[in-house]
Amino acid sequence: MEFKEMVRKRRSVNFFDPDKAVEQAVLERIIEEASLAPSGFNLQPWNLLVVRSPEVKKRLRKIAWDQPKIEQAPVVLVLLADKDGWKPDHPVMEKSWQNQIDLGYTRPEMREWFDRAARQLFGSDKGSLTFAVRNSCFFGMALMLAAVDAGLHSHPISGFDHDALVAELDIPDNFVVPMLLAVGHFDQKQTLGPEKWRKSYREIVRQEL
Ligand SMILES: Cc1cc2nc3c(=O)[nH]c(=O)nc-3n(C[C@H](O)[C@H](O)[C@H](O)COP(=O)(O)O)c2cc1C
Repeated sequence: MEFKEMVRKRRSVNFFDPDKAVEQAVLERIIEEASLAPSGFNLQPWNLLVVRSPEVKKRLRKIAWDQPKIEQAPVVLVLLADKDGWKPDHPVMEKSWQNQIDLGYTRPEMREWFDRAARQLFGSDKGSLTFAVRNSCFFGMALMLAAVDAGLHSHPISGFDHDALVAELDIPDNFVVPMLLAVGHFDQKQTLGPEKWRKSYREIVRQEL
């Protein structure tokens, strides 16, 4: 599918067909394709909870402004953004570092510089939060496009009580949840709403320097 078609086809759909499942193999493909999203230092500070259980979805719906699509969608992905994903000894950080060495992008003697730079950039509350959310949202966008490519639809959701969600799903403190993503097949009995407006080039670009 061409990019032009893919970005147009991605819509936040409000109605999912509750009888059409998302096969595990398809979900795995979507997630692994989305993981090609870029991230600072390739640290990939994202994880997912995959929610298929009707009972858990019911609890999520309560926390998320009673939005029916959460229960209708066969799968709800809970995007976890890892505020600790840059820290020394974090397993993903160490794996990424080793990979950069193996591929010749860096050298072991650069490690001290890297740890200092990472602490400077991400070592505050604001820095670590920005690091986690900024990177994870690229992954979130990639998930939506990968879903389109797989013939599915999705709906990003940030209308939820964050603290209640974290408590309900027992999510560890190092994570924040930038969004839920409902994924499934559009309910063909419904009509897709009209495309909403988007800013033009002139509205987006404040200055050409
Ligand atoms: C981070 C994020 C959070 C959103 N949260 C909600 C939500 O809680 N409920 C909802 O109905 N739509 C939500 N949306 C969907 C937007 O309303 C939608 O993307 C926007 O209106 C544009 O429509 P489109 O995605 O169909 O192009 C969210 C979108 C994003 C990107």
